[in-house]
Amino acid sequence: MTEQSPALDNLLTESRTFPPSEEFAGQANAKAELYATADADREQFWAGQAERLSWDTQWSQVLDWTNAPFAKWFVGGKLNVAYNCVDRHVESGHGDQVAIHWVGEPGDTRDITYAQLKDEVSKAANALSSLGVVAGDVVAIQLQMVPEAIFAMLACARIGALHSVVFGGFSPTALRARVDDAAAKVVITSDGQYRRGKAAPMKANVDEALQGAETVQKVIVVKRTGSDLEGETPWTEGRDLWWHELVDGQSAEHKPEAFDSEHPLFILYTSGTTGKPKGILHTSGGYLTQTAYTHNVVFDHKPGEDVYWCTADIGWITGHSYIVYGPLANRVTQVVYEGTPNTPHEGRHWEIIQKYKVSIYYTAPTLIRTFMKWGEDIPAKYDLSSLRVLGSVGEPINPEAWIWYREKIGANKTPVVDTWWQTETGAIMISPLPGVTAAKPGSAQRALPGISAKVVDDTGTEVPHGGGGYLVLDKPWPSMLRGVWGDAERFRDTYWSRFSEQGYYFAGDGAKYDGDGDIWLLGRVDDVMNVSGHRISTTEVESALVSHPTVAEAAVVGATDPTTGQGIVAFVILRGNAVDGGDGAVQELRNHVAKEIGPIAKPRQIMVVAELPKTRSGKIMRRLLRDVAENRQIGDVTTLADSSVMDLISSGLNSGK
Ligand code: WT7
Repeated sequence: MTEQSPALDNLLTESRTFPPSEEFAGQANAKAELYATADADREQFWAGQAERLSWDTQWSQVLDWTNAPFAKWFVGGKLNVAYNCVDRHVESGHGDQVAIHWVGEPGDTRDITYAQLKDEVSKAANALSSLGVVAGDVVAIQLQMVPEAIFAMLACARIGALHSVVFGGFSPTALRARVDDAAAKVVITSDGQYRRGKAAPMKANVDEALQGAETVQKVIVVKRTGSDLEGETPWTEGRDLWWHELVDGQSAEHKPEAFDSEHPLFILYTSGTTGKPKGILHTSGGYLTQTAYTHNVVFDHKPGEDVYWCTADIGWITGHSYIVYGPLANRVTQVVYEGTPNTPHEGRHWEIIQKYKVSIYYTAPTLIRTFMKWGEDIPAKYDLSSLRVLGSVGEPINPEAWIWYREKIGANKTPVVDTWWQTETGAIMISPLPGVTAAKPGSAQRALPGISAKVVDDTGTEVPHGGGGYLVLDKPWPSMLRGVWGDAERFRDTYWSRFSEQGYYFAGDGAKYDGDGDIWLLGRVDDVMNVSGHRISTTEVESALVSHPTVAEAAVVGATDPTTGQGIVAFVILRGNAVDGGDGAVQELRNHVAKEIGPIAKPRQIMVVAELPKTRSGKIMRRLLRDVAENRQIGDVTTLADSSVMDLISSGLNSGK
């Protein structure tokens, strides 16, 4: 396991701790007793957390685990998720509170109050119903960070339709695979998006994706770039509708219907170890309970006082759980920013924090390292004194970045919470509590109250303090995935077969306990890479590469990268065994992958080789390729079918090919 991430070994020599100040601890939402309370009676604890929500029908049982691994939480309860995120705040007299300070990349802004959010969501819900969308239907959403993305998600939730949000940067091929897999009936997108100061087409890509897509009846198009975009927006009469024409004229009255606690809320696709992404299914009551609870205790959020900003995109689970559902259920006032962090300048985030007096900021290590690279003098120019909690998510954060974050952004006083979780877990699972935990830079530390995690060895036995192994979740949790869309077997196989005897959920991450029993995450142990906090499977990139006519064979590894965590390095054998593809050919392959999957999957480096290292059974030994990619001494080659292959690869590379 440590073979995966030797660079992370030095994490474990980190010994600094940062206890919360007395002042922070005194006012914190979560106190130390919470751990003991939760341990004493877990179900009772979660029943208490579910009281954060407004239920139309009270549940009769907290957890039904009799059909494990298919959990049911808050059995018999009924609620409307959108009502919980919007209407009830208006009803309790907070209609004038700003829910969203939206900031467009070109500098346009929009403040949306809870009363306005209620109107927008209601109109969008009426619009979807007018198109024949009913509870249980799937609506695919490919939108950049515009308010309509949030309206659309909540409108789906309001009428019981499932949304399947597809990251705006995904290719037409990737969108189509997701639309087909879930049989989406409606697709919501925009004409174009602003990216680094330029308008780029979006609808044209969606049209390419949807050619011959039989399940899709309507495409709703948000006008965002308008005339800034070159050329006409391609249009299919009878299928396509402008959002403003369809939605704006709808009634703002819409009665939210109560759905079962286990009613599906959304599907979100994530990379697994095979080429085909998995549709992770989340349901209503348990998911909203845990996202609301964690948003409250981990970020110490105070409704009506804090200004919160999670920099994720709604195309990822972080955007679902910590922009849309958890925060809005907690009556947040939050910033939503459309653009990239260096448009038009590298101080954009700090400028926004200063302007809106952001007090809670949640971002990813890759961005923190990028900020470090840009230089501390940039944030130093802004007033960041409103900040009181900083969060990190997506990959292990190295102590150096953690310390920089706390010192340069948090004035050396804000707690930093390193939150471990996954698309599958739905909400934060392992994290310090900002008013309780003496934080250790680089460690996510301890499962939250109500959650249980362990580090175990191959046989499923918990390792002693100081030992390393696999991270498992040994007890069900409310926001756990309820399955893989349309593939119950893959659900069991991927997550529950590894430690089936014990009934543990296998997270796919390596981890280690330190001497105090705190957990340090060490990265994936499967063939999944983590590039800038995004999961990309090696197989997915390999199949994209071999789909190019010049490629005979490909092997992909994630190599340690100082900024993105891991970078994608591909080894390809060209057809006819050409050993030199030339720069043009390599560039073409990189672009091909971007076109097949999306720009985030573009390999950092492609090396043309004559052979790939394989075992006698034909399995590619990625470990050895990682050694090459990371410029390390090549490890044990004795299990190779042909041990001279590595010499061939190394000498080819040394000669500059
Ligand atoms: C994988 C999940 C959870 C939202 C973002 C990613 C890695 C995530 C941490 C962290 C170490 C982390 C794990 C995990 N990961 N957070 N704080 N420390 N590793 O969601 O795309 O489902 O990826 O991201 O490897 O398994 P995701």
